[in-house]
Amino acid sequence: MILAGGFATRLRPLSCSRPKTLFPLVNKPLLQWTFERLANSGVDEAILAVNALTQFYIRQQKPSKCGLKVRFSIDPPKKPLGTAGPIKKAEPLIGHDEPFLVLNGDIFADIDYQNLLNTHKKTNALATMALCRVEDPSCFGVVELCEDDCIKRFIEKPPKGQEPSNFINAGAYVLSPEVFDLIPENRAVSIEREIFPQIAETGRLVGCHVDGLWIDIGKPVEYLEANKLILDSVAHTITNPQQTSAQIRSPVAIDPGVVLGENSIIGPYAIIGQNVKIGKNVTISHSVVFSDAEIADDVTLSGVIVGESARIGRHADIGSGCIIADQAKINENVSMRAGSTVCPAKEISQNIL
Ligand code: GTP
Repeated sequence: MILAGGFATRLRPLSCSRPKTLFPLVNKPLLQWTFERLANSGVDEAILAVNALTQFYIRQQKPSKCGLKVRFSIDPPKKPLGTAGPIKKAEPLIGHDEPFLVLNGDIFADIDYQNLLNTHKKTNALATMALCRVEDPSCFGVVELCEDDCIKRFIEKPPKGQEPSNFINAGAYVLSPEVFDLIPENRAVSIEREIFPQIAETGRLVGCHVDGLWIDIGKPVEYLEANKLILDSVAHTITNPQQTSAQIRSPVAIDPGVVLGENSIIGPYAIIGQNVKIGKNVTISHSVVFSDAEIADDVTLSGVIVGESARIGRHADIGSGCIIADQAKINENVSMRAGSTVCPAKEISQNIL
């Protein structure tokens, strides 16, 4: 089961017009990376726990299912079920035959799902949680571990300085069907706040350490960082643009259909989506440009996210860290202060200082 029906409030305004699972990571939707990893691990079926709007977007964008059989389980209208409620709702689809895997759909992670499942089977756990180590655990679910990796306590977002360890919930679990009986029906339930602490008390919540790349794309800075890390891990320049005299500075990912104007400098860490049009003397680094966007002549972007079909006019001065949502339009010569955000379809014709 992939949990994918959240509202991604921390990624607004980019998430006003797309669910987090469809955010492109190096020009491929996050959901497609997840499907690929599942298929490569021998998983053959996935249930997407979504709300009606997320289901609509996923059906419209048709990310490749990579051979998986995919079904939707939809939260009731205007009644989001949280992170455990959707599991209870999907009980008839999942069935009671065997343990099953649950993933937070907003995590990009190199997790060995077979190893997680094997650990679960070996330890007679009710729930087995993938754990990764982070510098600052205070924004995550943090665990206190016994020597045998049994989780003694699970605390969601503890106050800074009071975290029992640096090991956090990596957003991937194996659950035994008995867990269905712990989840109340027909209401929002948080697996982190209501269910994991309860299972920890029974001594049957087990941790499984994972290495490898692990990225939560919760906030815009993390989203940019995720693209950078993935680009580094792919470790080559993905490019074949309709190029003129533009300079490409690796690592970059430029979709083959991209049009690049003369004397533009693209990279390092520029990710340019399908059908993007880039004018002359444009410089783009450490930025992500979603598909169908247009960047006119003499624009410099650094640390910027440009949404789908957004347009940036000639000589606009876009400060670092700006977020320009889908279909927004920044007119010629407009200056935008660093860190400004523009809502979807908004036209900006005056400076934002
Ligand atoms: P923020 O609003 O920015 O915190 O994001 P979020 O609520 O979308 O994400 P969060 O990290 O809190 O949730 C973890 C995962 O559970 C994400 O993959 C969400 O899509 C998913 N999720 C959260 N709430 C719900 C819900 O009410 N229903 C469903 N089906 N999935 C949910």
